[in-house]
Amino acid sequence: MRVLGVNAIFHDPAAALVIDGEIVAAAEEERFSRRKHGKRPVAFSSWELPELSAAWCLKHAGLTPSDIDVVAYSYDPRLVRPADSMGLDDPWDHLRTMYASRAPEFLANALPGLDAGSVTYVPHHVAHAASASLAAPMRDSSVLVLDGRGEACSHLAGSYRDGELKVLAAQGLPHSLGLLYEELTEHLGFLRSSDEYKVMALASYGTPRFAREMAEAIRSTGDGGFEVAPIEWSTLTKPREATAEWTTEHADLACSVQRRLEEVLLELACWLYEQTGDRALTMAGGVALNCVANSRIAREGPFEEVWVQPAAGDAGTALGGALHVAQARGDRISPMPGADLGREWSDDDLQAWLTTAKVPFTRPADIAEEIAAALAHDCVVAWFQGRSEYGPRALGHRSLLAHPGYARNLERLNDVKGREQFRPIAPMVLAERASEIFDGPLPSPYMLFVHDVAPAWRERIPAVVHVDGTARIQTVDRATEPLMAQVLEAFDRRTGLPVVVNTSLNTAGRPMVDDPRDALECFGSTPVDVLALGPFVVSRKGWQAA
Ligand SMILES: [Fe+2]
Repeated sequence: MRVLGVNAIFHDPAAALVIDGEIVAAAEEERFSRRKHGKRPVAFSSWELPELSAAWCLKHAGLTPSDIDVVAYSYDPRLVRPADSMGLDDPWDHLRTMYASRAPEFLANALPGLDAGSVTYVPHHVAHAASASLAAPMRDSSVLVLDGRGEACSHLAGSYRDGELKVLAAQGLPHSLGLLYEELTEHLGFLRSSDEYKVMALASYGTPRFAREMAEAIRSTGDGGFEVAPIEWSTLTKPREATAEWTTEHADLACSVQRRLEEVLLELACWLYEQTGDRALTMAGGVALNCVANSRIAREGPFEEVWVQPAAGDAGTALGGALHVAQARGDRISPMPGADLGREWSDDDLQAWLTTAKVPFTRPADIAEEIAAALAHDCVVAWFQGRSEYGPRALGHRSLLAHPGYARNLERLNDVKGREQFRPIAPMVLAERASEIFDGPLPSPYMLFVHDVAPAWRERIPAVVHVDGTARIQTVDRATEPLMAQVLEAFDRRTGLPVVVNTSLNTAGRPMVDDPRDALECFGSTPVDVLALGPFVVSRKGWQAA
């Protein structure tokens, strides 16, 4: 069965293709349109479809729209109630419902040849849940979806047995941990539905001074759900203007909400475990990108293992919707092979791009050794290899790499990317060396947990140690990421450090680099020293390995 999954309703539009239960391709529209998050999550934009990513998924598999058996659309307009009856203040929400209802016609128009009758609706949180449990390496698991909102709910707790979901709890709107965090993000002067991870980073600089107020407002209800009372943010701290400096008060508010979120999520996880007794928990939904909360669930929660969908935000519902339909119609689902499900180019194509751009380049005998030498020499490297990542994390396919041993590389990379200086940069580490240096859930191939850095290592890799002594690591397994592992091994031989700085290859406000043109534009406009485009190396300084 050929199932095309589509996410279009709020933001992070994306497409995914599942054929006979195998995940063949998945990509976010922003990587094609070059507009971060694809669109703003307003009702007016709900008609916009992931046209470019959907067309690419089909092309990648050599299919045309008429070859698709089912299109899974990850929002079911039949489940929506009028916004005011759900306690939401959105006079335009009915547009969302109308556009979703007309999505079959929109899709048939965007993908000529597609049968509008092939479009089926998958409830938003069922799609999130499937993106976690059906894509995870374990067959059966409990599942938590932690979201801003779906049709009429903001969360789902359930369990999967042999691919079948049993829903055990679903919190109705307006109570929403995701919308709470979005409100806080806006109050602190960041972009709502986009910059929540900045608030999480800011929280590390604060103390939970408003713990009592948060404990009164945000409570689990003992039945798998929770309540979030309206919070008058301005009575706690003044709002921050987007261009103003943040203060201790702002960090304290971020810290207070973050801690309370973690506590409530732990209670939800405990309740779910009491119902299921499962060994493993899988998670998705935008709140499941909160790697600090994930780590507390993994460390302090009752489940032995926690697996989080790397595209935990709404982009992942394209994949989850497709997996849900494929499973429901009898296909046996294969777990997600990795997050590298996007576009790639042949060596010949990459060479043609470089030739067209008229930039001098070399083809070293061993690209891993060459780049390890450049990193040891303290170069910043733009690293473009293989298929691009699905989800918000760069995982060694579209990455900026640097030496972790120099504290100033944090500022240097934040400058390259135009990022706030309070934000940390993350390390990648050889999987078999991770436990020496980092204490936390292992392996961690998708950067969805934070780890404590061993005291003896903090001074050796200062660029990647956050103010609270933690790091959001990516473990690199030689079996699944052989080239990246070779770079780390070669860097370790030269420096004694099996760790390299890894941050996403993009500049401020832009989506991650996806195609070779993006890579050349990014390299050309930033103080990056070396670009590794497949096997080719472009060096700004004319730097060469000794
Ligand atoms: Fe969602």
